[in-house]
Amino acid sequence: MPRVPRVHGSCPGDWIGRGRKLPMRQIHSPLGIDGAAPSDRSAASPTYRSYLEVDRLLELQRPLSTPEHPDELHFIVTHQAMELWFKILIHELGRARADLECGAWASAFGKVKRVNSILSAQTAQMGTLGHLDPKAFLEFRGFLGTASGFQSVQFRVIEVLSGLREPGYLDDLRARHDGSMPAEILDVLSEASLAEVAAGAAKTAGVKDWLEVYSEPDVHGALFLLGEALLDYDRLWMLWRYEHLLLVERIIGHGADGTGGASARYLEQRLSLRFFPFLWDVRYRLTMAAARKGNGAR
Ligand code: HEM
Repeated sequence: MPRVPRVHGSCPGDWIGRGRKLPMRQIHSPLGIDGAAPSDRSAASPTYRSYLEVDRLLELQRPLSTPEHPDELHFIVTHQAMELWFKILIHELGRARADLECGAWASAFGKVKRVNSILSAQTAQMGTLGHLDPKAFLEFRGFLGTASGFQSVQFRVIEVLSGLREPGYLDDLRARHDGSMPAEILDVLSEASLAEVAAGAAKTAGVKDWLEVYSEPDVHGALFLLGEALLDYDRLWMLWRYEHLLLVERIIGHGADGTGGASARYLEQRLSLRFFPFLWDVRYRLTMAAARKGNGAR
């Protein structure tokens, strides 16, 4: 699994010049049917097929049902696509955290916006599985054994990287991995979470706190927009969890256990998780402050 990018001592813009210059010939080379050996990535001019390792990629969907159930392919591809999107999310969240540590608000904002649009696309692609009817799923479910999205290490890395670090949750993760936390998660735990860095961003910018940012959005424009993008990140995860819950209820029903041994009830308990409670709280504080001044709010 790729590591979360740490860009110690380097801030946005530092990368410029370190990358390889793209030969124009490559930019204009036709993508697609080319006849080049698919695995020959060292060729002077990569092709669509070789660069993306299309052949290897398309080898990886291997249904377990026998005879092969026609709906299992869709089930596998949806989950594999999820893992690919998770890989980018982890990468971009790590970069956003590094930008925040540098006080590079505009760059961090750009990355969080990118993350948010990926998350929306991810949720939509998960929804495509809603077309799997309950009986069809039962016909191949037994072949999955105890395999479940529950066990996705990248999903947990995202949660821990984003800011979910309550001792109870971490104990639970450890217990589910036979008492020892997966190395990828330990790695993330050894660094500050995105939420911790974001919570301190106002101070880094020389502002008293997030309440001050939200009290004067035009004065602290960049930070305010960043706060809004992070709040959207929280909101989009809530929508992801809700979409997943509805998918589960639609396919196996509310009370039934999943292949990982938990049910929709467990998923319901996770619906309202928030990585950035301080950004939600700031609204409450603004509303209460206005109420104290007799300003509309009750
Ligand atoms: C037939 C469709 C699906 C069913 C019936 C289903 C069912 C479940 C259930 C019951 C759980 C709780 C743990 C367990 O017992 O397995 C779970 C967890 C999970 N599933 Fe699914 N799922 C489906 C599709 C998906 C898809 C398409 C994705 C990703 C795109 C996904 C990702 C996850 C993740 C990440 C968890 C852990 C959630 C958490 O701990 O908050 N699942 N799933």
